[in-house]
Amino acid sequence: MTALAVIGTGYVGLTTGACFAHLGHEVFCADIDEEKVARLKRGDVPIVEDRIELLVEEGLRNGRLRFTTSPAEAVRECEVAFLCVPTPSAADGSVDLSHIESAVSMIAADLPSGSIVATKSTVPVGSARVVERVLNRHDVSVVSNPEFLREGSAVVDFLKPDRVVIGADDKEAAIRVAALYLDMPSPVIITDPATAETVKYAANAFLATKLSFVNAIAAVCEAVGADVDDVMLGLGYDRRIGEGFLRPGPGWGGSCFPKDTRALLRISEGAGYPFRLLEGVLEVNHQQLERVVDKVERAACGSLDGVVVAIWGLTFKANTDDLRESPSLAVIERLLERGAVVRAWDPTVDAPRPPIPESVEICADPYSACAGAAVLAVLTEWDELRWLDANKVAELMSQQAVVDARNILDRSEWLRVGFDHQGIGR
Ligand SMILES: NC(=O)c1ccc[n+]([C@@H]2O[C@H](COP(=O)([O-])OP(=O)(O)OC[C@H]3O[C@@H](n4cnc5c(N)ncnc54)[C@H](O)[C@@H]3O)[C@@H](O)[C@H]2O)c1
Repeated sequence: MTALAVIGTGYVGLTTGACFAHLGHEVFCADIDEEKVARLKRGDVPIVEDRIELLVEEGLRNGRLRFTTSPAEAVRECEVAFLCVPTPSAADGSVDLSHIESAVSMIAADLPSGSIVATKSTVPVGSARVVERVLNRHDVSVVSNPEFLREGSAVVDFLKPDRVVIGADDKEAAIRVAALYLDMPSPVIITDPATAETVKYAANAFLATKLSFVNAIAAVCEAVGADVDDVMLGLGYDRRIGEGFLRPGPGWGGSCFPKDTRALLRISEGAGYPFRLLEGVLEVNHQQLERVVDKVERAACGSLDGVVVAIWGLTFKANTDDLRESPSLAVIERLLERGAVVRAWDPTVDAPRPPIPESVEICADPYSACAGAAVLAVLTEWDELRWLDANKVAELMSQQAVVDARNILDRSEWLRVGFDHQGIGR
């Protein structure tokens, strides 16, 4: 059992804290958001994430998981403090490290001698030095331990990671952090801080590249009369390619891929390498959003002015409540610019909240979102959407047109009911 501190209890921090407590460690989590901490102390989990409530409840019950609004208090007796604070994009696309700097300055004086600060936040190469400088403690080691979990399956990903990456100049500190992952059936890579920091950006940029590639092939499929879903089936069986991340969609988004891709572009530019491939990846993603909006406009007979559009799905992907840089919201903004009236449904959104545009009407269920709509657009791959009744939807809508930007509806069924059905890449 090790005494751990976690600074920042968002998607990464709360998962880290709850999972380490589940594995038997004593975990003290701190967040400067007082409301969040008050809720967590009651076992009221503020995010949608599979299994996290069970682990938080378990940790509170057995006393291994505690919460505070004071980062200094959280670290006072810890052996390792994990930094899990945001690293948003600055205006120029580079990484804003102010949350990291502020979190480190809050804990610097209170960290016990011999303890370790491990950065789980995604930070650019050189950030370990920033942490060391702000820390200004020769008796505390700094380790880079990037996190690769996916929202929606964060707990499972944390407990069974594909790999654990630890970057440190102090190899003894690296081994102490590696020991925390010993019970997990995963390879551990111990390397230097710059390499560990680069692994994280390279992984996210590679996944974004894969998705943009699929969407570009989808555009080719539409032009030549091929079916992207079958093309991807044919690719996915090739073990050199792998079957993951081969689904077309409205474009990729979320709290990580856009900011991390922009950051890697800036990092490589700053290092003197113009990363043209990654520029193309971002450009294809931008095109994809426009292509989806154009499909909706065509389905509305060429003009969206005053046209009611029903939207199924607001989050950036299914099984999360996260709306950050959601492609769905990017599509909605463009629809509104073209004069559409938007009615939306998402299982995790029961009332308007930022960053959803205020003029979007939030509906209680997928059917009511379709009332009076001329076009329905499916923008998030919520599983329950597959089983909805196309006949009932047809009766509610003023015209029968659907743009399925996730290719999840049963196309033959919707065509049979009389819908004009547009998917992606078919
Ligand atoms: N969300 C993901 O899927 C994911 C996956 C891997 C890595 N990451 C990276 O992990 C980091 C955190 O991401 P997230 O999605 O968990 O963010 P988040 O916004 O959900 O949570 C961050 C939390 O940190 C708190 N915070 C900010 N400053 C603080 C301070 N000084 N002291 C204590 N708490 C503070 C905030 O109040 C917030 O609750 C980012 O660098 C992100 O890129 C995220």
